[in-house]
Amino acid sequence: MIEIEGVSFSHGRAPILSDISLTIPAGGVTALVGPNGAGKSTLLALMARLLPLQAGSIAIAGRSVAATPGREMARTVAILRQDPGVSSRLRVRELVGFGRFPHSRGRLTAEDERLVDEALERFDLTGLAHRFADTLSGGQRQRAMIAMAYCQGCQTMLLDEPLNNLDMFYARDLMRTLRMVADSQNKTIVVVLHDINHAAAHADRIVALRDGRLVVNDVTARVLTPETLQAIFGYRMEVATVGGLPVVLHHR
Ligand SMILES: Nc1ncnc2c1ncn2[C@@H]1O[C@H](COP(=O)(O)OP(=O)(O)O)[C@@H](O)[C@H]1O
Ligand SMILES: [Mg+2]
Repeated sequence: MIEIEGVSFSHGRAPILSDISLTIPAGGVTALVGPNGAGKSTLLALMARLLPLQAGSIAIAGRSVAATPGREMARTVAILRQDPGVSSRLRVRELVGFGRFPHSRGRLTAEDERLVDEALERFDLTGLAHRFADTLSGGQRQRAMIAMAYCQGCQTMLLDEPLNNLDMFYARDLMRTLRMVADSQNKTIVVVLHDINHAAAHADRIVALRDGRLVVNDVTARVLTPETLQAIFGYRMEVATVGGLPVVLHHR
């Protein structure tokens, strides 16, 4: 469970987040959506303590983000940042193995190696394991970064625009993998998405921000109405049902 209470944040005098309070239940996939500049990355960074809290509180799995020691936090929550830099002279396997650092401090045990293999397999990277990360395509590198976050073995995963650079096959594949991981390992996954239809197909809940404010935090079906979508994104969309799933349509 992620509990956010009264969180506000500003850069200098510019308010970025205004009094955000919301609870995300344990287990399941939550899509975090909203226009560019809404504050999604800032909120995720606060949850993972990449930014210090200025006001309010955040607890993940019952641990206060402000008060929990760094190493324990790293075992509690894994984050994929929006534009992760990647060190060039690392092979994919070593990169993914970094996810084990909070557990092993760099000396991978046999169990760590097994978890690295499993992560490589799960994200279809086995054939790329010995490639240098800087020789991969953007989408392959993105998958390697996601595998590293997965390999951290945390109950909570925060993924900031993980579909960036992925083609349609791997975008769908990743969403299905996240769904499976959430279901089979009871992980709490928060994923920033731009394509609302990925949220429609795979997310249990949608949290929407706009201009640093919470617009809605509800189960997916209740967010996917023309009225709520307009409140989030500022224009009219239609919602159809195809094969039992909601599909959001944009018009010219
Ligand atoms: N380091 C910074 N200094 C000043 N403003 C920032 C900084 N980082 C982000 N912002 C501003 O904060 C707002 C929210 O940014 P962000 O959380 O990245 O939004 P999103 O991820 O929803 O696109 C934007 O207006 C952005 O320009
Ligand atoms: Mg962002």
